[in-house]
This record gives sequence, C-alpha cells and structure tokens, in this order.
Amino acid sequence: MKSIKVGLLGIGTVGAGTFNVLKRNQEEISRRAGHGIEIVMVADLDVARAKELVGSHCEVVNDGNLLVSNPDIDIVVELIGGYGIAKDLVLKAIANGKHVVTANKALLATHGDEIFKAAQDKGVMVAYEAAVAGGIPIIKALREGLTANRIEWIAGIINGTTNFILSEMRDKGLDFDTVLKEAQRLGYAEADPTFDIEGVDAAHKATLMSAIAFGIPVQFDKAHVEGITKLEAVDIRYAEQLGYRIKLLGIAKRTPQGIELRVHPTLIPAKRLIANVEGAMNAVLVQGDAVGATLYYGKGAGAEPTASAVIADLVDIARLADAEPAHRVPHLAFQPNAMADTPILPISEVTTSYYLRMHVADKLGVLANVTSILADSTISIDAMLQKEPALGETQTDIIMLTHQTQEKNVEAAIKKIEALPTVIGKVTKIRLEHLS
Ligand code: HSE
Repeated sequence: MKSIKVGLLGIGTVGAGTFNVLKRNQEEISRRAGHGIEIVMVADLDVARAKELVGSHCEVVNDGNLLVSNPDIDIVVELIGGYGIAKDLVLKAIANGKHVVTANKALLATHGDEIFKAAQDKGVMVAYEAAVAGGIPIIKALREGLTANRIEWIAGIINGTTNFILSEMRDKGLDFDTVLKEAQRLGYAEADPTFDIEGVDAAHKATLMSAIAFGIPVQFDKAHVEGITKLEAVDIRYAEQLGYRIKLLGIAKRTPQGIELRVHPTLIPAKRLIANVEGAMNAVLVQGDAVGATLYYGKGAGAEPTASAVIADLVDIARLADAEPAHRVPHLAFQPNAMADTPILPISEVTTSYYLRMHVADKLGVLANVTSILADSTISIDAMLQKEPALGETQTDIIMLTHQTQEKNVEAAIKKIEALPTVIGKVTKIRLEHLS
C-alpha cells in the first residue's frame, strides 16, 4: 500500500495538531484511507521550534518553495494564512501537480475562483473543510450530504471569538470593550482581533458557503460585513426581554431577486437551538427544500478540531487521488461549467425584520408620530416595548420589532424618525431573523 506523502506549510497551532492527530490515529486513518498518510516535510520560519515539534520524523526547511517543488510530496497542506506568500505557494504547488489542503478562508474567499480554476486546469484537488467552522464538517455536508437539495438559506454562528464575547456580554451584563479585554486576557481573542470582531472572518466563511450552496462564484467583495463593535449591552437586555438573543450570524439566502450574503449582529428567537450556542462554539443551520432544516454544531477553532478537518481532507484526497478528475466532487459542489451568475444583492435590497430602539421625550403624540412614519413606509410593527421613564426622568426608550421589509424602507423611515424633535439622538437598528 503506497503511502501518501504530505508537506506542511506552517506548523503553528493547527499544524502541530495535524501532526499529532495523524501520528496518534495513524492506524485508523490508513484503514479508512486505503493508504498510509505521512508528513515528510515541514516548512516554517521557526525551524528550531518546528524540529522540536516533529522530532526526527521529517525534514524541516525554512523556505516553502523547497516544499512545493519537492517531487516526493503528493499533498501540500497550507496553514500559513493570509493572501500573500500563502497564495503564491498554493499556486506553485498546483502548478507542480500537487493536491492542496488549506484552512485559509481569507485566501479562498478572495482568490478562490483563480485557485480553483488553476487546480481544475491541472487536474488536482484543493480541499478546504478546515476553512469554515473548524471541526464541523459543514463543507462535506453542503457539497455531498445535502446534494439532493435546493439549498434555501444558511445561517451560521461561524466565529467563536465574537460568540464568546456576546455570550459574556449577555451573561454578565458587561459592555463590549470590557469583555473584549477579558477575552484577550483569556486567549479567546487575538491581540489584533479586527478580523473577528469586525465580522470579516465570518464573512469569509459565509462567502465560501454561499458559493457551494448556490453554485455561484466566490464573491467576498459583494458580502455585507458588520461586526459587533458597536453593539450595546442595553440592546442585548431589551432583546432578551422580548424573547430574543443577539448573535453574529453569517447569512446566505436565495431570494427570487438574487442572493443575500451578509454578516451582522442578528436577533434570533431565544427558543431556537442555534440561539443557545454559547461561548466559543460554532453552529450552522441549513435549510434545504427536501431535508428541511439541519443543524451542525461543534468547535470552530483550536488545534485538534481544525486538524480533524484537515485530516478528513487528506483522507478524501488519498482515496480519490487516482480517480479521473471528472469523477471527483467539484471544488464548489457544482460542475464548473454549470455555475450560475445569480447576482448578490446590495444590503439596501435585503428583506428582513428589524429591531429599532429610539430614545424619546415622554410626551403626548411621540409614539403616534413614530408609528405613522412606519405605517407611511408600509412597515408593520410586530412587537413593542416601552418602559416608564426612571424616577425624575422625562425621557425613555421605545423598542419596536417590525415585520419583514426591505432595508431601504427601514433606512428611509429611520431618517424621518430621527428628524422628529421628540426623538433624541440616533435610532439603533439591528436585523432580526426568525429562522423558521
Ligand atoms: N478566529 C476564528 C474564530 C477561528 O474566532 O472563530 C478561525 O477562523
């Protein structure tokens, strides 16, 4: 039985996890793959640390070019991250006829079409289970398990850092900045957490899922991306009182007008299973026309959960390496000549429900003015909450939940509401999804 030879580009947390799980479960894995899978070379700038991790088991070099041009290597595992050197090395590996496994969502969400095209031309596979939701086999589920379905929508908690922060804000009633500092101290958030907290990481993952769910090109530049940095503890509290939780959702939805691709804080009914996904865990809810709703839950990051996904890809490639390229699962689930050009809708064209919070003077007619603006904009109110002003106060908050409407309608109504003399400051708008 020929052993499949693997080269690791980068041996950080996930690389070390991959090395350890492959070693520990070697026998089971080769019984499944039909081949041994052996890491024969590692490229990492920190050669001394890499040697410490792999011992005398394989060669360690500090130049990835040596690895991607090594004729002994069948599969290159890219765990460097980013779009610079990683892109260059992935394209060189493909040009050299090697299969690629990558956990690099940023690279695939921005340059996926170019990379998949190069791989297709060369007859090699690029596998990326680890790029979306870490250890959850969501790519496998979407590309293969749900292949009979017309996928209607996907909604996922696909960033553990932000889910941890939101869980802490809700549990402890703390504000965003305080929880972020705590998350950094505990190692849940990176020293530079921008990609996570601004929703970029989740949008990379949502972009990849939208491509394989709907058979469209990978279009990160068209995704609407909002993070959680502006979210206030008061809205988490009001949402709770109305029976909702706020989660950072990645949403990909098919509509008659086009595809919605968006990441933003979202109110979801507290009774939904996905609303109860807490801490750094991930979950993805997929609605297919035949199967209905299916929910996938697990660890979205970490050394061994991510290694689990990387190794699943290695096994898939080991099984299919000798198959005709046309007999393999297409990179984006749909045959390359059957991709659709369905447009991705701008956020102004998105249709959803809304949570609106406004701070108002507690005077006769204020509510009537607000509701008449909404009615004039054909926005129907679903629920409302108004508290008595605190003792000695003359102002209060009004919270309204709307039925579904287009974003541009809501934006126009908000402008009019903010212009009312009895409305103080800005209206807070958070999108709401029933996920039913
Ligand atoms: N930083 C990501 C998260 C994991 O917090 O979920 C890698 O995408």
